[in-house]
Amino acid sequence: MSEENVNLTIDGIPISVPRGTSILDAAREAGIEIPILCYSEATTPKGLCRLCVVGVEGRRGLSASCVTQVAEGIEVKTESEEVIRARRTILEMLASTVDLSEAPTLRDLIIQYDAQPERFEGGAVRQPEIIDDNPVYIRDYAQCVMCWRCVQVCAEVAQYTFALNFGGRGFNSHITTYFEKGMPDTTCVFCGQCVGTCPTGALKGKREYLLEQGIAPEQVLEITRIQGLGKASKGGPHLDRINGGTHVES
Ligand code: SF4
Ligand code: SF4
Ligand code: FES
Repeated sequence: MSEENVNLTIDGIPISVPRGTSILDAAREAGIEIPILCYSEATTPKGLCRLCVVGVEGRRGLSASCVTQVAEGIEVKTESEEVIRARRTILEMLASTVDLSEAPTLRDLIIQYDAQPERFEGGAVRQPEIIDDNPVYIRDYAQCVMCWRCVQVCAEVAQYTFALNFGGRGFNSHITTYFEKGMPDTTCVFCGQCVGTCPTGALKGKREYLLEQGIAPEQVLEITRIQGLGKASKGGPHLDRINGGTHVES
């Protein structure tokens, strides 16, 4: 990679960074924070969520700053009217279709950008059932913002396990496993890295989930550890939802 530096301005601040640097990283160097969602320190940028968009003087449309490299002489605006409107709309669309109750960063951004999710009231909402098929974590895709971070860490970014995949198209697109198999029947090694990178409550440790359901700590241990031992390969114990989550099946 060339060591040559590139000069640009971001919100009027002149900065010089190595060629190949993303606008997002250049902004950080200039002390300017741009919101991100699909990108994280643990994953590679992929330009999916568009929350990080910025305006580049003279270019049509907005650019996703996580995947757009700096160029000599460009003038970047990270908080123009157009940028703010775009971020606000993305947040409104997310909040109107997905349960963001356990996504504090996004909730903060909704306030910061004065997003009004009720503008999209009446639209279809994602409400799949919680998937509780193993002793280690649950998957509540009603809270999934499709950032793909879990898929990336499970694949070549970290774990090289490739247990997760995408399914469906358009509004029905979702995160799943290969052939939609239950997690114990996939290559998953239950490392928990996907849970760690999830920016919402879509992936949650089973113990945390059970405690939230009011299950006594001793019973939580029973479900996740003692009964779970040796059963992780075939549908471990899980809560029986039909009985309101109070009965434990094994
Ligand atoms: S817990 Fe399973 S699905 Fe999640 S990253 Fe690890 S191997 Fe992949
Ligand atoms: S489950 Fe979490 S990490 Fe995976 S795509 Fe959905 S929100 Fe992102
Ligand atoms: S963080 Fe850049 S597109 Fe999602």
